[in-house]
Order: sequence, then structure tokens, then C-alpha cells
Amino acid sequence: MSRIILEHVTKRFGDYAAVNDLSLEIESGAFFSLLGPSGCGKTTTMRLIAGLETADEGRILIDDKVVFDAADSTVVPPGKRGIGMVFQNYALWPHMTVRENILFGLAVRKIEKADQEERLRRVLSRLQISELVDRYPSELSGGQQQRIALARELVTGAKVLLMDEPLSNLDAKLRIDMRVELKQLHEETGATVIYVTHDQIEALTLSSTMAVMKLGVMQQNAAPSEVFAKPTNLFVAQFMGHTPMNILPATIQGNSMQIPGGSLPRAASSASCADGSQILIGARPEELLLGTTQDERSISVRVESILPMGYDSLVRVSVEGAELTIAADERTRTVDVGDDCFVTFDDTQLHCFDAETHERLG
Ligand SMILES: Nc1ncnc2c1ncn2[C@@H]1O[C@H](COP(=O)(O)OP(=O)(O)OP(=O)(O)O)[C@@H](O)[C@H]1O
Ligand SMILES: [Mg+2]
Repeated sequence: MSRIILEHVTKRFGDYAAVNDLSLEIESGAFFSLLGPSGCGKTTTMRLIAGLETADEGRILIDDKVVFDAADSTVVPPGKRGIGMVFQNYALWPHMTVRENILFGLAVRKIEKADQEERLRRVLSRLQISELVDRYPSELSGGQQQRIALARELVTGAKVLLMDEPLSNLDAKLRIDMRVELKQLHEETGATVIYVTHDQIEALTLSSTMAVMKLGVMQQNAAPSEVFAKPTNLFVAQFMGHTPMNILPATIQGNSMQIPGGSLPRAASSASCADGSQILIGARPEELLLGTTQDERSISVRVESILPMGYDSLVRVSVEGAELTIAADERTRTVDVGDDCFVTFDDTQLHCFDAETHERLG
């Protein structure tokens, strides 16, 4: 069991709280992703869990054991937390072979020679890197180095693996291969993985749970499908997804919502809003339909630009000073730049947000 608990953890650099009152429970065996823009506190959170950074406030528990407590100055050193770490720059020792790099941590821990060899054999075969064992890091591709860095942590038997953007140095194809491998590896080892990424698709495909951070503050912590389907506020809504969610101002009027270019039937999630109130509605580019027929869920727009992307294209349209992006299927697209046409909303999919607090409604 390797459950990780953070209770009201705050870390300041000068006056700035890089991690601000963070409370989090990561289940044993979870694949937990931390997501958010540059500087939001992802690496700092990892370093706090690993013990490479000391928090100013709060408590951290691993396996129900307190490894950090600001109140009574408990600080368990990094080497005693049972954690393995893989970072973006793999930091393999350049003067050591793959074998030496992998065994280094075991020798330091004074593991018996026979046990070392057995662990090495197992990890090499699991990661399919047996043939690389005598090479030096400079003789390996980025993906191979990545696997060695992983092997080096797995071989210690760490039950918690912290990975800070481990795939960001790899090319697009290798990233996808490594994603698949990471997922398998996680299933095989049962380790608790905490994974930091900029890449929300990576987070969506790999994680069992994920948290989105902004300026040191956690915004949402839930299953990826939930974060995607029910973003808790405007920030999360616009952060998740291939192309940012479209946001339009709307005014509640009886059973309808006035938006630029027309009106829509009132979305169910706006039920609590008083008549005349202003809200923001959100629709992902994939949730909008572009066409030449009008109904009570559509508004008339003009096509401004088209960005082909293979099967789909991103079509930008304008309406009364507002802009919308629609993901249109290239095989059935009938409109072109300069055309007047209609965008149809799916009112069952609409996201509604408070215009002032930007919190999700409904
Ligand atoms: N040692 C430090 N001294 C001062 N400020 C720091 C230190 N480490 C981090 N910070 C600041 O804390 C904030 C969070 O940094 P952190 O490295 O955790 O961000 P991040 O989410 O990992 O970003 P990125 O995606 O760019 O890696 C940033 O504003 C950063 O400048
Ligand atoms: Mg970072």
C-alpha cells in the first residue's frame, strides 16, 4: 500500500506561495497526473513529496506514515521515503554503462550481489533493453535513455514513482510508444505513480485521477473524464481539450438565453439563475455543428478562416464581434471562407459559468 496524503501544504519562495494550501489524497496504485501551465507549482509539489523541498506549512503522509509535519518539524529524508524519481533530463551517469547506471542505486543501498543481478535481469527483460546493457548513455536514443532512467528507479522496488515530464524530450511517435509502455508498466508494478505533464492528452490517456493547478492553487481533482466533462471553472474548461473551449456571454431571458447572433433554449445547468442574469456559456469546438440549415439552436455566423488538420479542420467564424472555433469534418464540410452559415449548439452539452466568479453552474 502506498497511499499519499497532503494536508494543507504550503511552500513559499519569498512572499510567493508556489504551492498554496494544497490538500490531496492519492490512492495506492493510482496513476495520478498533475497538470497546469508553466510555473503553477507542479515540480514544487513533486519535490515536496520526495523531500527535496521543505514545506512551510502542512503535513505529508506516505503509507500512513508522517514524512513531513511543519507543526513538529518532522522531516523524513528523501532516501527513506521509498520513492523513485524520473525527470525530464534523465540524469544518467555519462561515464557509466547502462548496467552500472541501473545497479548504482542498489550498490549504494548495499543490496547483495546475487539479488542485484536478479533484479537487473528482471527489469531489463521487462523494459526490453537487455541488448543495451553494455552501452554508455551517449550511445542511446532519447527513448532508450528514458527507459534506462525508469529501469533505474524500478529496480530499487520503489512503490511510489514520481515522474516530472518524463516524455517531453521525445519526438511525437516515441512519446506515444512510451505512453503505452508507461501504462503497461504501471499495471504490472502496481506502483503509485505521480506524473507531471504539460500535455493534457497525455494526462487524459494515462491517469486514473488528475489535478489541475493554477498559480499554486489546486482547481480540480477528479477522474480525467470528469475534469473533461464537468470542468469546475472557466480556467479548467479552457485548459482542457485540444483546442480551447469557446466562451460566449449569455443573458438569461425566460426559457431562453440571449447570446451574440441569436438565442438558445436555456441550458439545464442554468436552472438556478434569475431572469436577466448574465452568465458565460462554454462549448468545445467538437460540440458545435457548422451547416447551412437553421433551427432554434443555431445562430448565423460568417466564416473567417479555415485551418485544415487532416480529417478535421478548425473553422473560425465571427458573430457580432464574438468569435467561435468549430471542429468540422473535412469530408462533409460544405462552407468556405466568406460564407454566411449557421452554427448549431447542443444544449445538452453546454457548460455554464458564473460571469463574475467563473465557477461552474449546475
Ligand atoms: N528555488 C526556487 N526559488 C524561487 N522560486 C522558485 C523556486 N522554485 C520554483 N520557484 C517558483 O515557484 C513557482 C512554481 O514553480 P514550479 O517549478 O513548481 O512550476 P511548474 O508547474 O513545475 O512549471 P513548469 O511547467 O514550467 O515546469 C514558479 O513561479 C517558480 O518561479
Ligand atoms: Mg516543472
